[in-house]
Amino acid sequence: MIPGDGIGKDVTTEAVKALNAVSDATGKALTLEMLPWGADYYLETGITIPPNGYDMLRDDFDAILVGALGDPRIPDMRHARDILLGTRFELDLYVNYRPVRLLADHLCPLKGRGVKDVNFVVFRENTEGVYVGVGGRFKAGTTDEIAVQEEINTYKGVRRIIVAAFEHAVAAGRAQVCMADKSNAMSHGHALWQRVFREVSAEYPSIEASHMYIDALAMSMIKDPSQFQVIVTNNLFGDIITDLGGALQGGLGMAASGNIHPGRTSLFEPVHGSAPKYAGRNVANPIGAILSSALMLETIGWRDEAAKIEAAVSAAVAASEVTKDVGGSLGTKETGDWIAGYIRKN
Ligand code: NAD
Ligand code: IPM
Ligand code: MN
Repeated sequence: MIPGDGIGKDVTTEAVKALNAVSDATGKALTLEMLPWGADYYLETGITIPPNGYDMLRDDFDAILVGALGDPRIPDMRHARDILLGTRFELDLYVNYRPVRLLADHLCPLKGRGVKDVNFVVFRENTEGVYVGVGGRFKAGTTDEIAVQEEINTYKGVRRIIVAAFEHAVAAGRAQVCMADKSNAMSHGHALWQRVFREVSAEYPSIEASHMYIDALAMSMIKDPSQFQVIVTNNLFGDIITDLGGALQGGLGMAASGNIHPGRTSLFEPVHGSAPKYAGRNVANPIGAILSSALMLETIGWRDEAAKIEAAVSAAVAASEVTKDVGGSLGTKETGDWIAGYIRKN
């Protein structure tokens, strides 16, 4: 576990309660180790992640649970780049799996819509795109400054995320995969996405393949989210539309994610960030983190245990035993206690 910064610490404390409750309830032993990496650690030691950090994550653990990283005292996000983006790259966690599933009608921000309309997953490419940091600044700080940030798209990278989306559709009984790009403007990089999507979709004739430009897809997510089952897109677009997906689930605090390399040690975290203004105030919604811990268990093969956590979260939402951002009156800790209590009793 890397609780990280801000509300990351608050919400992971509650995820630990849920994990311990499920371990006690099922008798399956679970060992959690806390890693202190984050803004405070960096400011105290100058270390973002120790030299053997990535090897340790990969070799010593079955899975990694992260809270959030980001602190106003470190405006260039140096530590977050090493800890979060670095782990995505170094462990080659190429699938950013972000389910968008509404748990109760009353949480839906869209008029006349409900749980039947909001149930899809986003496959966000997680190791390429503009996140690779290729580029630079020339004459920085002057009025002649030139800033270049390249978007990297490789055949291998694009193919493997699209294949992952189709494989998921087959395994999860989903009928349709929609690829979103901006090939009308980004005529080089996104032409590659077009070509590979055509190629891969032909290998999955039983799955309906569709395409939308990312701007139109953003509009369609609001106008009629029921049309989506599996969305596959690049790193940056996937980042943006999954915050939008958070809103469709009632708020960013509800959204869970997995940074996955199938079969290898993977990293799970809520979609939200460190929300510094809420840190330590017992107001952050812990459900995104708790559902991320369920996704973690499911991915390592603990399906029944994951289902127990999910059932407890659904019960909390149905009973409105949740935080204020989603219409309840509980604090972070009380929500976590309620969910852990439900797991122990059921
Ligand atoms: P944020 O996700 O931290 O917060 C945006 C807003 O969403 C908050 O002001 C709040 O209204 C709401 N929100 C988010 N999480 C919530 C929760 N659990 N419960 C209730 N409401 C919640 O985004 P930001 O303000 O743009 O970023 C803050 C910092 O976090 C930045 O440093 C950013 O880079 C970082 N960040 C980190 C991650 C990560 O570690 N995975 C993700 C996103 C942002
Ligand atoms: C996310 C976050 C990160 C991203 C930031 C903190 C670099 O927004 O996980 O969604 O952009 O991937
Ligand atoms: Mn994001």
